[in-house]
Amino acid sequence: MSKIYPDSGVEVQGAIARHYDTIMNIISFGMYPKFIRSAIAGMGIEPDDWILDLGCGTGRNTRLMHEHLGPNGHVLGIDISEIMEKQYLENCRDLPNVEFRRARADVKFSLENKFDKAWMSFVLHGFPHEVRLRVIENIFENLKPGGVFCLLDFAEFSLARMPLVYRVPFKAVECKYAFDFIERDWKEIFREHGFVEFEERHWFGNYVRLLKAKK
Ligand SMILES: C[S@@+](CC[C@H](N)C(=O)[O-])C[C@H]1O[C@@H](n2cnc3c(N)ncnc32)[C@H](O)[C@@H]1O
Repeated sequence: MSKIYPDSGVEVQGAIARHYDTIMNIISFGMYPKFIRSAIAGMGIEPDDWILDLGCGTGRNTRLMHEHLGPNGHVLGIDISEIMEKQYLENCRDLPNVEFRRARADVKFSLENKFDKAWMSFVLHGFPHEVRLRVIENIFENLKPGGVFCLLDFAEFSLARMPLVYRVPFKAVECKYAFDFIERDWKEIFREHGFVEFEERHWFGNYVRLLKAKK
């Protein structure tokens, strides 16, 4: 399948998509499972929450979110990739109240239900900036009043001041859009889109951040 944004690194395809979870475990030197569990614990999920997992990938994150939910909680995973859809459905097949929809996060959508939380991990940095703004509008539109957008992605930092040991792999692996993502003031951008309260937590030497923004 050809890419919508040819320079994007988040439209993962082929073997990278098929082995995505394993690749993340390997490139993080085995730290990924513990890290992602702790980031999802940081969402502050309530048992009855309805959660939108945008660019949900293999379903690994949905499974972890589901551990915090009771019988009235719900997760909707959205992703454009057929390879991810297959893995998501397989990985979450035993979970009640989990559904998947193959759709684009960057095209305007209005779902039949509004959500308490929207989660997006390692997707937003990979879009051109004007596309990111459309994604944020979509998220705002589909959250309940008081709902929380949980963005897990790169933090704001200066590439020039990043130690070489991180800078070399970052430059080698990341797509061109990541380089302007890290320089933007995301709280200010969210404020301009109507979000009002923020909380943040960092990992991996402060280069990765969970930024929570309340509608
Ligand atoms: C880097 S992966 C991250 C997957 C998952 N969020 C995680 O943290 O494991 C990026 C995901 O975003 C999906 N994606 C890319 N562009 C998308 C779009 N326009 N709409 C919906 N999903 C998209 C890809 O198919 C892929 O599953």
